[in-house]
Amino acid sequence: MTDKITIPKLLEKKQRAEKITMLTAYDYPTAQVLDQAGIDILLVGDSLGMVILGYENTLPVTMEEMIHHTKAVCLGRQRALVVGDMPFMSFHLSITETVRNAGRFIKEAGAEAVKLEWIAGAADKTRALVDAGIPVMGHVGLTPQMIHRMGGFKVQGRAADERQRLLEEARRLEEAGAFAIVLEGIPAEVAREITHNIGIPTIGIGAGPDCDGQVLVTHDLLGLNPGKPPKFVREYAQLRQQITDAIDHFKHDVELGEFPSEEYWYK
Ligand code: KIV
Repeated sequence: MTDKITIPKLLEKKQRAEKITMLTAYDYPTAQVLDQAGIDILLVGDSLGMVILGYENTLPVTMEEMIHHTKAVCLGRQRALVVGDMPFMSFHLSITETVRNAGRFIKEAGAEAVKLEWIAGAADKTRALVDAGIPVMGHVGLTPQMIHRMGGFKVQGRAADERQRLLEEARRLEEAGAFAIVLEGIPAEVAREITHNIGIPTIGIGAGPDCDGQVLVTHDLLGLNPGKPPKFVREYAQLRQQITDAIDHFKHDVELGEFPSEEYWYK
């Protein structure tokens, strides 16, 4: 496919000031829909744990779960770049283990890159992965795998020293060879400063309008989750309500003997 999204094409998009689109996908049909709609990057996020598997946070997600879902997403895409998210504890212990786990996303699942949340040592691990031929997307700001240290999902980078630290982390990831960085849950002004001071694309979620691209969790934007969405989410549909209405309708029809009607049975 000639317009296949590649890492050099994403860098060109930043240089041409064209916005990059990224959404999460965890399964084959969703990957097909997003791919055919022209979304640039499909992220198999470890948000999988909360959105699909019902966990309270992302910490319990395993490599096996990530590989299983990444495989399905890769089978559903033709054009988009697929990025697999390194789950908690898959890149924390050693460079060897980081490369081995990241390699599984590429070799077993068919992803083209991995994403890792910032931790001490993230830059060295990024360099080792890039040297091994595995492209890396960094992730700084509100990093959900640090939920216990942060004391919840809290906006980061409001204080001057924190702002400086985030800029420093982004610079170190760029120097280490990352091809893009997710900026999550930080003031718009801080995201703008980082975006203007690094040469690789920034992809924002709850980070204002000046990032080089935007990412959302697909289930959030489709209105599939119960309750009020977070401040940074625009719901483009209310699918949870639509699904509920459809299921109520089916139940009603079966209970009243209205389904199946003649056109739905064999003669
Ligand atoms: O896991 C995920 O879905 C993410 C995005 C929210 C960036 O990391």
